Amino acid sequence: MVTNDDHAAVLDTSDAWIVERTGIRQRHIAADGQATASLALGAARAALERADADPRDLDLIIVATMTPDHPMPAAACQVQNALGAARAGAFDLNAGCSGFVYALAMGQAAIEAGSYRSVLVIGADTMSAVVNWQDRATAVLFGDGAGAVLLRATDEEHGVLASLLGADGAGDELLMIPAGGSAQRASPETVAAGLHTLQMNGRQVYRFAARVLPEAAEAVARDAGLSLDDVDWIIPHQANARIIEAAAQRLQMPLERFVINVDAYGNTSAASVPIALCEAADDGRLQPGQHVVLVGFGAGLTWAAAAVRWAAVKPEVQRATLHRLWRELLYRWAGLRTGLVRGINRLVGRLSTLWRRRKHGE
Ligand code: ACO
Repeated sequence: MVTNDDHAAVLDTSDAWIVERTGIRQRHIAADGQATASLALGAARAALERADADPRDLDLIIVATMTPDHPMPAAACQVQNALGAARAGAFDLNAGCSGFVYALAMGQAAIEAGSYRSVLVIGADTMSAVVNWQDRATAVLFGDGAGAVLLRATDEEHGVLASLLGADGAGDELLMIPAGGSAQRASPETVAAGLHTLQMNGRQVYRFAARVLPEAAEAVARDAGLSLDDVDWIIPHQANARIIEAAAQRLQMPLERFVINVDAYGNTSAASVPIALCEAADDGRLQPGQHVVLVGFGAGLTWAAAAVRWAAVKPEVQRATLHRLWRELLYRWAGLRTGLVRGINRLVGRLSTLWRRRKHGE
C-alpha cells in the first residue's frame, strides 16, 4: 500500500493537496512478481467462488485492461489457462478506464445473441507499471487492482437491462501512453524521454469526465426504462471524488447513493468499477432487486454505462464446499498441465533444432 505521505516523501506534494483535489488517501500497488494477469486471476477466482461456478462451464473470458502483462498474448488467455476453463474463448479489451463497462456490455450482447451462456468479465490494471513515478500530477492518482463478475444466461428479469458505449478519438492526446506501440516504436530515445509512461492533461480530462458521467448515467437509466428515482446506486469510475460530487450535483442525486472508494484505492482504471461493485455487494449496501447504474470514462476518449437489476446467487453451503474443493483441484491441475505443456514445447523446440542441424551437417 502507498499512502499520500509515502508520495510526499519523494515528490513535491502533500497529503492535504491530494485529499483536497482528489479524495485519494492511499492506493494498492502490485507486489513484486505480480502483474495484470495474476491480479485478474485473483478476481476471477473470487467471482467463481461467489457464484459457486465451475470454470469448465465458462464460454468466454474478457479481461478489460490497458496494462496487459505483454503486448501479446492477451492476459485473458493466461487467466483462462490458470482457471482450467478449457471450453472458454478469451480476449482482452482496451477501452481505458471505461474497459470494464465496455466488457460488461459485450458480455451481455454475447449472451443475448444466444451463442454464449456463461461469460466472465474482469477489469484489471497494473497502473504502477505505466505511471511516471516522478510526475506528481499523475503518480499520486493511480493504483493497481482487479475485479470481476460472472454473467450467466437466465430467463429471470435481472442482470444488465441496458448499456451504452461512447468514444471520441479526437481527444486521444489528452490521455495517452505515446510510445511502445506501432506508431512510436520502443527505442532508447523513447525510454529516455519517458514516452512509455502515462501522459495526461488533467484539467481537460476532468472537464470531459464531469460532463459524460452524469450524461451517460441519465441516458442509460432512460434506456432501461428507469427514472433516476428508480436508481438505488450509481457506481462511477473512481478517478476523483470531486468528479463524482460534480456528477451528483448535476443529477440532483444525494452523494449517499454513489458508491465511492477512491479514497482507499485511487484510480485503478478498468478495475475501479468492479471493485466498487463487489464491495457494495459484499457489505450489503447493494441488495438483490435494486437498480444500479455503472459508469466508466477514460482514455480513448471513451465512456460507457450499464443499468443493472442486481441479483446475487446464494450457493447452497454443503455443495459449495465440495465445489470449492473441486475448483482447487482444477486450479492445481491447470498449473501442472501448464508446466508439462511448456516443458514439452521447449523440448520439442530443442529436438527439432538439433535435428535440423544434423540434417544440414552443422
Ligand atoms: N501535488 C501538489 N501540487 C500538484 C500536484 C500534486 N500531486 N499535481 C499537480 N499539482 C499542481 C499543478 O502543478 C498546478 O500548479 P500550478 O498552478 O503552479 O501550475 C496546481 O497543482 C493545479 O493543477 P491542476 O492540474 O489545475 O489541478 P486540478 O485541481 O485540476 O487537479 C487533477 C489535478 C487531480 C489531476 C484533476 O485535474 C483530475 O482529477 N483530472 C481528471 C483525472 C482523471 O479523471 N483521469 C481519468 C483517467 S482515466 C484512464 O483511462 C486512465
